Amino acid sequence: MNACIRAVVRTAIYHNLEVFGIIRGYEGMIHGAMIPLESSSVANIIQRGGTFLKTARSKVFMTEEGRAQAYEQIKKFEIDALVAIGGDGTFRGAIKFKDEYGIPIIGAPGTIDNDLCGTDFTIGFDTAINTVVSAVDKIRDTAESHDRLFLVEVMGRDSGQIALASGIGVGAEFIFIPEKKTDMDDLYHRLEEGKREKASKIIMVAEGEVAEGSFTVAKKIHERFPQFDTKVTVLGHIQRGGSPSCSDRVLASRLGFAAVEALLEGKEGLMVGMVNKEICFTPLENAVKQMTDIDPHMLRMVEILSL
Ligand code: F6P
Repeated sequence: MNACIRAVVRTAIYHNLEVFGIIRGYEGMIHGAMIPLESSSVANIIQRGGTFLKTARSKVFMTEEGRAQAYEQIKKFEIDALVAIGGDGTFRGAIKFKDEYGIPIIGAPGTIDNDLCGTDFTIGFDTAINTVVSAVDKIRDTAESHDRLFLVEVMGRDSGQIALASGIGVGAEFIFIPEKKTDMDDLYHRLEEGKREKASKIIMVAEGEVAEGSFTVAKKIHERFPQFDTKVTVLGHIQRGGSPSCSDRVLASRLGFAAVEALLEGKEGLMVGMVNKEICFTPLENAVKQMTDIDPHMLRMVEILSL
């Protein structure tokens, strides 16, 4: 997100615009936490994870009164347009705000979940999957040396994109994703019929998939296959931080740059995205409308490659 903020600020300044950063997103907007940003304010942040402007999940902004207060502050600071960087929640807030107050907004997709329509990748996804891959490569060493089965739980409350991409990347034996109904029998069957005797097994689990929790799933597997020494690792928030990958920095820079130029061209109410290496725009309503598809060919490939 820092790389995207940097691009927004510098592009806006290039076009002689005045820029404010809003501390803690919508929550800060309600309280008038706007700070003027100069080119130097965004120096030396492109390599840092997270957002130097901070972020918050704002319950108050979900209310009409909260948005009315936010609009008062927008008027007070004479802000003409907004760039909102975030995911599903950020965009749903943006849709309400623009519908109620007509303020021009361009959204930039910033979420590790890669679950927005209208962009091949969201900012943070590439860094997150690389973090997962490097962690699971280390886990695989223990799994292989001790002949163990590891369930590795990754983020993705409603989305299996992280589990799928990183699962392919680490050569996982099985991947549980929310887009495909959990089928324990399928897993048991595959563990039983494993064509070659593998010393280690990695099962990737998207957090949203296992309502009962990875530990319960691990217990079930152990009851069925007591011969497997079964362990669980929950990777958690290490996936949301750290220095961003170069791909993420480039994507974030391109999207931030395009967001400002789009506002200057009079575009509004859209999410800027990248599809097939081209910048494109999708109505915010459509960006959050449906889950991004999981390619069935990928799922078939996972099955074949993990045999
Ligand atoms: O929304 C992105 C996400 O990474 C989800 O995959 C995850 O469930 C959630 O954030 C975690 O959010 P929090 O840090 O608030 O627990």
